[in-house]
Parts: sequence; structure tokens; C-alpha cells
Amino acid sequence: MKIVVLGADGYLGWPLSLRLMARGHDVVGVDNFATRKAVKEVGSDSAIPILSMPDRIKAAKEIHGFKMKFHEGDVTKYELLHKVLKEEKPDAVVHFAEQRSAPYSMIDVKHAAYTLSNNIVGSVNLIYAIMAVDPNIASVKMGTMGEFGTPNFDIPESAFVDVEINGRKDRITTPKFAGSWYHWTKVHDTNNLLFANKVWGITATDIMQGPVYGTRTKEITDERLHTRFDFDQAWGTVVNRFCVESVLGMPLTAYGKGGQIRGYLSLEDSVTALSLLIENPPKKGEYRVANQFVELLSVNNIASLVQKTAKGLGINVEISHVDNPRVEADTHYYNPEIKVLPSLGFHPSLKMADILGQVIGDLMRYKSRMEKFKGSIMPQTRWRDHPSADTS
Ligand SMILES: NC(=O)c1ccc[n+]([C@@H]2O[C@H](COP(=O)([O-])OP(=O)(O)OC[C@H]3O[C@@H](n4cnc5c(N)ncnc54)[C@H](O)[C@@H]3O)[C@@H](O)[C@H]2O)c1
Repeated sequence: MKIVVLGADGYLGWPLSLRLMARGHDVVGVDNFATRKAVKEVGSDSAIPILSMPDRIKAAKEIHGFKMKFHEGDVTKYELLHKVLKEEKPDAVVHFAEQRSAPYSMIDVKHAAYTLSNNIVGSVNLIYAIMAVDPNIASVKMGTMGEFGTPNFDIPESAFVDVEINGRKDRITTPKFAGSWYHWTKVHDTNNLLFANKVWGITATDIMQGPVYGTRTKEITDERLHTRFDFDQAWGTVVNRFCVESVLGMPLTAYGKGGQIRGYLSLEDSVTALSLLIENPPKKGEYRVANQFVELLSVNNIASLVQKTAKGLGINVEISHVDNPRVEADTHYYNPEIKVLPSLGFHPSLKMADILGQVIGDLMRYKSRMEKFKGSIMPQTRWRDHPSADTS
């Protein structure tokens, strides 16, 4: 297949591009390097150094013999996206090219507006570009399990649910309640994609993915092929933050009571699952939702796993509970359904406990680099602090 990967320079985009090429597909990447710039803006950087895109492509060719094509550009510019699809004529487009940090989206009105416009406009452009160039192109859009929030009912793997209100029955879109402007952009993307499917019959896979952790995939065999690893308060996930804190000998900072449960998966399992979804598209004109995670874990579970792994490596770290900067339930019910990926033959290969040692081991080599950005770990953006948008 020929696959365009929007956001190919990112944490997931780069390893997925490598995996798709390893599986014999032609890959064309697109990226405007927004994440590289925005992580620097908050005073941090990837814990693991990464090469520039031209050097990454060169290394992938030298190490694995992969030939990757790349277009630098912003997917909020419709003309660019249209031109790339027209020139490349892909079978599928994977859409990762969004601002993906919840805390970054909550900094102030500028960051909220940027996140909303970057994410929603990019996705709408993709819908229009596919319909204009070739409606047979399958759209593989990355959403997030965070779209659902933490409802007190089982989370269905479906775009619609049946309801009865005052004795009358109907089908409505699956109820969602996101927890940040970033997460709401994913809900809006879902609604827009559903609408485009209804009116134009666009073929779409909407993936609801949980947080991904890890530094390696089968193809990341050399340090020149590393993917980024963010750990600061805006860009790092809880797993990354705990791993870096353990390497730096800092207490593991669990937010609130630490009972927040999410569905996690390793980078290796994420690229395997994504490859399956790309290679097995839905029927033409179908809208398919796929929940994507492997293990349900609470923040406290993760803190204990990291603490235990670090101990095995001779590092003793404490777990400390800090005031939760987010507005979220820190004890709740959580039971998402997952049937699409298993039906395609997805068998998770790793649990978090299996690879934390490797992650911490990879990070230890860059300890002095991480020391430089130590000040960026503690929360700086608090959801409840309504930021002033006064211009006077
Ligand atoms: N990493 C996770 O744990 C996770 C979990 C669930 C969902 N997701 C989603 O998966 C996707 C990829 O995540 P990631 O962790 O690789 O993020 P990332 O920030 O590392 O990668 C996104 C890439 O898109 C690029 N980009 C952003 N806006 C762009 C634009 N307007 N034009 C062109 N390129 C643009 C960025 O420069 C970056 O390289 C995101 O949409 C994210 O919301 C990620």
C-alpha cells in the first residue's frame, strides 16, 4: 500500500513510518515540526535526542534500506494537503498531525485557540482533500480514549448508542465528556468525521487510543532511529514523568489520590495495532471506531511499577502525591470495550512491567541532558486557574 503519514516526525508517526516500511509499504511523511518547537517553548526538550527529519530518513535507509519520502508542511493549509494527496495518490492517510498536549491547550486563550484551530482545521482539510482527490482513500484518524472521559457506564466501541428518553427510542452519538481543550478537539474531530461519513460516505477509522509508553519498536535498533520522549509537565505522560523522575532520583509525583485509571499500551503494540487497522480497512463508506489499549492501570499502579523497576536497577525512589493540576475524578469506574482490534488478530505482546526496565535503561544514558530540564517537570498549568484574556 501507499500510505501518507501526517505528523510523521512525532512520537508515534516516526515509529509507525518505520514499521509500515518494514512491512513493505511506501510511506510519505508530512510534518511542520510544531511539536519540536512547542516543547522548547515550555522550556524542555525530548529526553532522548532525535535527529532532524533528513538525517532520520538517511539513517533509516542506511540501517534498514527503507526509502521514505517527506513533505515539510502544515496540514491546516488546505492547498498543501490537497497537493500531497493529488501527487502521491495514497491508499490511506494516517492523521497524527495535531497538537497533543492537554496542559499546553490549557495555558491560556492563545494556546486554547491554537489547539482548537490546528486540530479541527487540519482534520476538516483532510476530509475535503480526500473527497476532492479520491473518496476511496481510507482515513485513519487518531483520536483518544480521553474523548469519553470517565463515565460511570461501560465505554462502548461504537459511534452510536441506543437510548430511550421519556419513553421514545433513538440512536444518538456515544456520549462523551472530554477533560481539556485538547481532548475536546478530538471529540469535535469525531463529530466532523461522522458527519462527513453521513453526507459523503468517507471511509474512516477513528481510533480511540490510550496513552502510549516506551522507547523502542522492532525497527528502533540504533540510536539514530530513536523517537522523541517528552517528560515535562506539558508534554510528558505520567509514565514518562515517573521514569525520568526515577532516573533523576526525584520522588514520583502522582497527581491527587492517584486513582485515575486509563488504558495504556506500549509503543510496539501501538504500531502493531495501527498497522493492522491500516492493512484491514473498513468497507468502503464505513465509519469504524476502534478502541486501542492493552492494560487498565491507575496512576498508583504505575507509580508502584516504576518504583519496583527502579529498585531492581539500584535506584530508590519515593512516591509523593501532589495537588492535581487537572479537573478530573481521581477515583472512578472505568470499563472500555475492545473488540475490533482482537477481531483483526491483535495480540498484545507487552505489559508495562515488561518494558519499564528497558525504558529506564535507555533514559539513564541521557541523565545529564534531562538534568538540564529538571525545572520543567512540576505542574505549571492548573485547570481551575481561569487565565485572564484581558488585552488592556
Ligand atoms: N502518544 C500518545 O500516548 C497518544 C495517545 C492517544 C492519542 N494520541 C494522538 O496521536 C497523535 C500522535 O501523537 P504523538 O504522541 O506522536 O504526538 P507528537 O506531537 O509527537 O506528533 C504529532 C506530530 O504532528 C505534527 N503536527 C502538529 N500539527 C501539525 C500541523 N498543523 N501540520 C503538520 N504537522 C503537524 C507535530 O510536529 C508532530 O511531529 C496525536 O494526534 C495525538 O493526539 C497520542
